[in-house]
Amino acid sequence: MVALTENPLRIGLQQQRVPEPSIVVFFGASGDLTKRKLVPALYKLKQERKLPPELTIVGVARREWSHDYFREQMREGVMEFSGGVTSEEDWEEFAKGLFYCPGDIDNPLSYQKLKAFLGELDEQRKTRGNRVFYLSVAPNFFPEAIRQLGGAGMLEDPRRSKLVIEKPFGRDLSSAQSLNRIVKQVCREEQVYRIDHYLGKETVQNLLVFRFANSIFEPLWNRQYIDHVQITVAETVGVEDRAGYYEKSGALRDMVQNHLMQVFCLTAMEPPNSLDADAIRTEKVKVIQATHLADLAHLDRCAVRGQYTAGWRKGKPVVGYRDEPGVDPNSMTPTFVGLKLTIDNWRWQGVPFYLRTGKRMPKKVSEVAIHFREVPHTIFQATGKQANPNVLVMRIQPDEGIALRFDVKMPGADLRSRSVEMDFGYGASFGKSSGGDAYDRLILDCMMGDQTLFTRSDEVEAAWRVVTPVLEAWESPTDPSLMPEYEAGTWEPQAAEEMINRDGRRWRRLHT
Ligand code: BG6
Repeated sequence: MVALTENPLRIGLQQQRVPEPSIVVFFGASGDLTKRKLVPALYKLKQERKLPPELTIVGVARREWSHDYFREQMREGVMEFSGGVTSEEDWEEFAKGLFYCPGDIDNPLSYQKLKAFLGELDEQRKTRGNRVFYLSVAPNFFPEAIRQLGGAGMLEDPRRSKLVIEKPFGRDLSSAQSLNRIVKQVCREEQVYRIDHYLGKETVQNLLVFRFANSIFEPLWNRQYIDHVQITVAETVGVEDRAGYYEKSGALRDMVQNHLMQVFCLTAMEPPNSLDADAIRTEKVKVIQATHLADLAHLDRCAVRGQYTAGWRKGKPVVGYRDEPGVDPNSMTPTFVGLKLTIDNWRWQGVPFYLRTGKRMPKKVSEVAIHFREVPHTIFQATGKQANPNVLVMRIQPDEGIALRFDVKMPGADLRSRSVEMDFGYGASFGKSSGGDAYDRLILDCMMGDQTLFTRSDEVEAAWRVVTPVLEAWESPTDPSLMPEYEAGTWEPQAAEEMINRDGRRWRRLHT
């Protein structure tokens, strides 16, 4: 455990702020995300007094719901998926600002109706024309919704209207480029907030603070001292009821291009000049642009996929991916991806970054592990023991914290060493975990006009560029029996093991 000293460092990202009164419009309001995450996030912000009393929410979806029915649905969401309502009075106050406006994504009349309704609400709720349009719809509707919002003149005022786009942003480089073009036709980049909820996680933001608010790590953060880096995002859940989406997406699109690439960028980027959103985003883009798969001529040596087969979860049998409801029995959609990336720059030349993510793994764990080089010359040969290389692990979730492994002398007359860990835990040090999925933080930042935690157009495209060779290779027809497998409840497929073993390294074993 690390003793915690109060640090007076004021990080701009953390300052208490209250946005201007505004209307947040959720497209796709009858869907899961609005009910489970988005409205509960706003309710939480409201309870924490981080929102102005005028804040207004409008749900838009095809179903003919009434305002009251929408309010009931959202109340259910708050009760079921977040901390519940603090008091009836409190909820009533919040619910007064909830409205519903039925509409079709592709019908211009719906947008005219919405525009008029928002105008009325401005009068009634004193929201001063400020709008956040949040697209929580299936990705194939993004282009149409953006065009229509632009066509209806709802994105014209760059100071008053913002556009939030959920992931996935495109399904490959060309669709992301075309979506970016559509966005550019109707609004400016400073109005656009591309969501990656990993950036909302405290521990992901902490990568920045840890690296750039401490002087002792940065001098070691390079090829001279680091042997390789492992980034893991493992989940215990399977595809759940999302086969419709997941079958077309798979782990590479669902997790790697966005969440893992964001974690990768914050680990590998150069120090930005300031905390300014564009200073940070520019450094992220620079590092992704220098990144590529380690062996483009032999993709199988640097990119491995896999699919879970039937296995066990918490002592109960679970079905394999191809037997999940809605999944093609010959599906070639990967539920596991392992990649080896390299970065062509002075800092990282020759240092591989291994990324892995999978569903139905034995443990939910996301972490970045920095493996340092071995000592250049060991004086302990005579003791018959090699020194263990140091490892610094930044645990993103759960059990958020940071651990540094190093060797110490074991007590006794012999000169025997053992690896020990120095461990900082958010829970132990701050009395609470680093907190949830962070939609509250992201929505608040968006309302405040802070784009730091949102991805810029060039960043999304650069991330697609890195994975494009694998996407293309894996999309070519392959015999379904050749898909590498791993049993549900076990770690990566054998092929991923082989990929890293070939380099004389091993994946970290993460205890269950
Ligand atoms: C989402 C993916 O973006 O992230 C899901 O679509 C995945 O498939 C989820 O389960 C993981 O997020 P978290 O915050 O639970 O690690």
